[in-house]
Amino acid sequence: MKESIHDMPSLQNAKKRTRAPIVFSREDLVISSRLREFARGKRYFIRTYGCQANVVDSETIAGILEEIGFVSSNQMEDSDVILLNTCAVRENAEDKVFGEVGALKNLFSKNSKKVLGICGCMAQEPHVVESIRKHYPQVNLIFGTHNIKHFAQLLDEVLFENKKVIEVSSCEGEVIENLPKIQLEQYKAFVNIMYGCDKFCTYCIVPYTRGKQRSRLKEDILKEIIDLKEKGYKEVTLLGQNVNAYGKDFHNEESFATLLEEVAKTDIERIRFTTSHPWDFDESMIEVMAKYKNIMPFLHLPLQSGSNEILRKMGRRYTIESYLELVDKLRKAIPNIALSTDIIVGFPEESEEDFLCTLEAVKKCQYDSAFTFIYSPRIGTPAAKMNDSVSRVTKGERFHRLVTTLEESIAKKAQAYVGKIVSVLVDGPSKKDESMYSGYNEQNKLVHFKGTPDLIGKIIPVRILESHTYSLIGEVVHE
Ligand code: 5AD
Ligand code: SF4
Repeated sequence: MKESIHDMPSLQNAKKRTRAPIVFSREDLVISSRLREFARGKRYFIRTYGCQANVVDSETIAGILEEIGFVSSNQMEDSDVILLNTCAVRENAEDKVFGEVGALKNLFSKNSKKVLGICGCMAQEPHVVESIRKHYPQVNLIFGTHNIKHFAQLLDEVLFENKKVIEVSSCEGEVIENLPKIQLEQYKAFVNIMYGCDKFCTYCIVPYTRGKQRSRLKEDILKEIIDLKEKGYKEVTLLGQNVNAYGKDFHNEESFATLLEEVAKTDIERIRFTTSHPWDFDESMIEVMAKYKNIMPFLHLPLQSGSNEILRKMGRRYTIESYLELVDKLRKAIPNIALSTDIIVGFPEESEEDFLCTLEAVKKCQYDSAFTFIYSPRIGTPAAKMNDSVSRVTKGERFHRLVTTLEESIAKKAQAYVGKIVSVLVDGPSKKDESMYSGYNEQNKLVHFKGTPDLIGKIIPVRILESHTYSLIGEVVHE
């Protein structure tokens, strides 16, 4: 099969940050009539790995596929277009994708009018694209995070010119509005407020795979939220790699605090946001969070490490003292706030002493939830050139000690809900037991209770009877 290469990824270009203004574009989809014709009665399947940015991209890709005429399927085997929207943040995420692509080989040799596409952050990595070209002939489409706007044309070329198509741009990126979107959930939605990242923490591949920081215009964000509210959505989560840096690229008065306040004034019932960087978090954001009841008392505030030396090597630009001070201010202003975090163990040259600083910080912060990771070197990042000196055994051992310490505070926080009434936005029945329903309380804790289908999408009071580390069990309070 011939290859048609439109653009190939380059880490060198991906790390450029020029002063060029942000390009805003309103895309109109170009869909050929032969593609519309082909799509009739055909199915698509998207597997999404990684973070919420990928979830939203998958919603857009699904929107484009449905606009073309494809219908969604939850079975890979009987789908005509299969896409893997991938994550590059750690090696184990990448291994899963390679495993899945390998397993699909037979499906594809039998039927040539199928599309197997790789998109998302792994597509932005030159070594991944090379490896797919060499070892996985069943993949006939590769496109990057900046190339979603051309997806319909790329699909047309694969299907009708019988080519393997690669289009991965390593650029600073644009802000694109107007692309269609199929929201995966009916009552909760993710809303991008910005794209990309300019922080370049030394371990992280994201600034290379998603381009420079670009904020969406406030009017576009507010319009999307008001539309969602009118459609019956109860909760929005504002998304960005560093939401607190929202608007900094406009070089005007716009800030995350002013945006958040206006979102709160739309009166949508629940507002969350993620991810916050401790470095950009200022007092005005705390004030807005404390002032509005529809901003949920929950904050994901990645710590990464409790050692100043490691934080410096990670390029995080805060100290453990300033992080703890921020936590203190947040707890004073919003006493019922729940905190969650991300922590990496085994960063290059992390000593036992450094690790103990992390354990100490974790004890002080008393988190309500946490994501923990073993450091994974990413090709092209500055940390990948550092001495990855901590042995696998030590990394594993530190990981376990960290999880044990975190779980003490997480379980204690969960225990404190017992006997209290919390409000829960009901998601739906559990897969294992149809009579058990679940949803999240304001502090983002998972709550299970006996329920009925009419409760789905409602915010209801639930009395907590029992706590586990990662969930609560309760009963619906009938008023
Ligand atoms: N190795 C391990 N964890 C990482 N993260 C990001 N890059 C790496 C890496 N190279 C973690 C960080 C980040 C979260 C999304 O993933 O903790 O906050
Ligand atoms: Fe990665 Fe740091 Fe940007 Fe987060 S802030 S996406 S960890 S570079």
